Amino acid sequence: MVTDAVLETQSVSIAYGDTKAIRNVSLRFLENRITAIIGPSGCGKSTLLRSLNRMNDFNADVRTSGRFLYRGEDLYGPDADPVEVRRRIGMVFQKPNPFPRSIAQNVTWGPLINGLLLKSEAPARVESALRMAGLWDEVKDRLDDSGFSLSGGQQQRLCIARALAMEPDVILLDEPCSALDPVSTARIEDLLFELKTRYTIVIVTHNMQQAARVSDYTAFLEAGQLIEFGETDQVFTRPSEKRTEEYVTGRFG
Ligand SMILES: Nc1ncnc2c1ncn2[C@@H]1O[C@H](COP(=O)(O)OP(=O)(O)O)[C@@H](O)[C@H]1O
Ligand SMILES: [Mg+2]
Repeated sequence: MVTDAVLETQSVSIAYGDTKAIRNVSLRFLENRITAIIGPSGCGKSTLLRSLNRMNDFNADVRTSGRFLYRGEDLYGPDADPVEVRRRIGMVFQKPNPFPRSIAQNVTWGPLINGLLLKSEAPARVESALRMAGLWDEVKDRLDDSGFSLSGGQQQRLCIARALAMEPDVILLDEPCSALDPVSTARIEDLLFELKTRYTIVIVTHNMQQAARVSDYTAFLEAGQLIEFGETDQVFTRPSEKRTEEYVTGRFG
C-alpha cells in the first residue's frame, strides 16, 4: 500500500529542561507523500522534526516522551541504532552547509566514512545522487571544485544530494528554502515533487504558499500543540479549527 505511515509519533512531548516545546503530538507521515509542518516561529517545528531522526539526542537537556514508530519499529527502542536511524532518515537544514571539501567529496564522505560505499563505487554514487538532486548537469565538469564555489541554491541541492547519497528512506527538511532566492526556491520545490516518488518527505516551512504548493498533508502547530492535521487542500481552504484559519489567512503569526 502506497499510503502506509512510514513514520508515526504517538503522544510525543519534548522539553528543554523545564521548557515544554512539544506537547502530546500524534502524527502519521505517509509513504511517498510530502507532509508540511507549519506554525508560528517558536511553536516547536524544528524540535519535532529533529526528534524524527534522533537529532535531539545531541542535546543533553532534551527530554522526550511518547512513542515514535518507524516502519513499525520503536525509533528510540533498545534495538534502535541512532546512527542507522539517521542514515535511513536524512536531514537537510535551513542554511546550506556543505563540507569544506570538493563537490564530489561532499556527496561521498558520509557513505564512505560509514562503510556503506567502496571507493570504486564512488563516482557512480556521485553521479546518481547529483542527478537525483537536479544538480548533475550544472556541476559535472567541476566535481573537484569546492562545494563553496556553488551558488546558495546549488549548495542546498548539494546538501540534498549528500543526504540522498546515504540511500535514505525519509528526508526531513527544515526551512530548506528560507535562505534562497525565488528561482532557487522554485527549483527545490520542483525537485521535492520528483523526490517524493522515491522518498517520504517532511518539510518544515514558515512559507504558507510553499506548504500549499508542495505538500500533500499539512500539520499546523501552535505553542507546541498539534492544532490541525489533514490534507493540504482541506487545511488551507476548509480548515476545521478557527486558529488554523486565522493562521493560514495571515491574520496572526
Ligand atoms: N536548544 C534549545 N534549548 C532550549 N530551548 C530551545 C532550544 N531549541 C528550541 N528551544 C525552545 O523550544 C521552543 C520551540 O523551538 P523550535 O523547535 O526551534 O521552534 P520553531 O522551529 O517552530 O521556530 C521555543 O520556545 C524555543 O525557544
Ligand atoms: Mg525552526
